[in-house]
Amino acid sequence: MIDVRNLTFSYTANPFISNVAFSVEKGQIFGFLGPSGAGKSTLQKILTGLLTTYSGQVQVSGQEAKFRSHSFYEQIGVDFEFSSLYEKLTGRENLDFFASLYKKRRDADPLLERLGLLKDTDKKISDYSKGMKSRLNFIKALLHDPALLFLDEPTSGLDPRNARLMKDMILEEKEKGKTIILTTHNMYDATELCDQVAFIVDGKLKALDTPKNLIMSRGASQVTYTFRENDRLSEQKALLHQTGSDEKLQQLILNNQLLSIHSSEPTLNDIFVELTGRKLQ
Ligand SMILES: Nc1ncnc2c1ncn2[C@@H]1O[C@H](COP(=O)(O)OP(=O)(O)O)[C@@H](O)[C@H]1O
Ligand SMILES: [Mg+2]
Repeated sequence: MIDVRNLTFSYTANPFISNVAFSVEKGQIFGFLGPSGAGKSTLQKILTGLLTTYSGQVQVSGQEAKFRSHSFYEQIGVDFEFSSLYEKLTGRENLDFFASLYKKRRDADPLLERLGLLKDTDKKISDYSKGMKSRLNFIKALLHDPALLFLDEPTSGLDPRNARLMKDMILEEKEKGKTIILTTHNMYDATELCDQVAFIVDGKLKALDTPKNLIMSRGASQVTYTFRENDRLSEQKALLHQTGSDEKLQQLILNNQLLSIHSSEPTLNDIFVELTGRKLQ
């Protein structure tokens, strides 16, 4: 669905995006994970044909992004980081207007209902909260039922309930065979949603794999256990795959002296810091 090779791009005389390469299969959710300013939105703008002064190859749905034809936009849906709705129009008027630009049209009401906006369709966008705009902007991207969806920080600024609803809807679009490119600085979203994750820092791609492989290939899972010794509470750690040879732990188990034990896996954030030397937030 997407094939990027040797991509280089800059806003100024200084190099920024350099030598980026990746590909995305149909039906996958592909995520760009990186801190603010890493170049995630820039990459989305290149892929959606908005920034055309790049060099290298950017094939999206069979077309080179900078030479995209009009039909390109029938196939892609874009949910930008900042809402692109007309403030003086109502929610319904906005959806009707944007839907009129496309050949295909999907019934918006089930989507509005799902995201709790059906009762607000007659309000002007200027009276919508930030979260409401963000939810309507997401619905707008789905209206022409595109095969390829670009979502820029889709859950950012949403309360946990709406973020959950939106993530469920993203997964349902995937179930229907849609290909989804999303950007996020939220490691939990990336871990849960993405088939492939690209770590992006300073315009460079630092790692690319499934979240599971990224996590498993680096840090090992640990167990932390507590016990009482010399009238004091003590805590010790062991690697999960070495618990069988941890004599202290074995002895505590045999004597029923273990007070607590829990395991912890490294998170995508730990791996991100390890591989890039940078924090996500
Ligand atoms: N239109 C622009 N002109 C010049 N610099 C820009 C422009 N848009 C973004 N930048 C810069 O490019 C870098 C990457 O921005 P962006 O792609 O928005 O990052 P992210 O989405 O990862 O937060 C930032 O340093 C930003 O200031
Ligand atoms: Mg961004």
